[in-house]
Amino acid sequence: MTHTEKTGIYPGSFDPLTNGHKDIIERALTLFDKVIIAVLHNPSKKALFTMDERVGMIKQSFHKNPAIEVESFGGLLVDYAKMKNAAAIIRGIRAISDFESEFQMALMNRKLNKKVQSVFLMTGFRWIFTSSSIIKEAAQFGGDISDMVPEPVYLKMTEKFPQIQRGKK
Ligand code: PNS
Repeated sequence: MTHTEKTGIYPGSFDPLTNGHKDIIERALTLFDKVIIAVLHNPSKKALFTMDERVGMIKQSFHKNPAIEVESFGGLLVDYAKMKNAAAIIRGIRAISDFESEFQMALMNRKLNKKVQSVFLMTGFRWIFTSSSIIKEAAQFGGDISDMVPEPVYLKMTEKFPQIQRGKK
């Protein structure tokens, strides 16, 4: 990669990847030469899937796109961004309610490393209501989440929650 090429880091817990995340990644690819999807630990959430499972599902969902890398990292996001020489951290915003916590996180990251920039991308309208947590909740009670997550994630979700019924609305 030459020094003029721009790398964006898209961090998250991705527990699991949703079509909303996928939408943000596709938008980010129009702005950055390379997007690194970084699976990180969020200390305020208990994960359903292991780091390896989450990384595996993301890799399967992108069919070896050379502009996308997927990794896990166990430390501060700003340290990872610096290590990867990233131009920016990318985060998706669904509604105004996301803004407050995202703003807080971006300012904390800037405080930790003033050279790290954050950019926010607006999600596609059809994904405004989706989140990994709400999808897991629906799946737990047998709801059909098949059109909210990529197919490899759907298959893994049905292993965890055999009660999921495709087509049940
Ligand atoms: O998908 P999420 O759970 O909203 O992502 C949050 C995440 C994982 C990006 C955030 O918790 C994070 O950056 N974790 C790594 C540890 C860190 O750097 N924390 C300080 C950021 S304020």
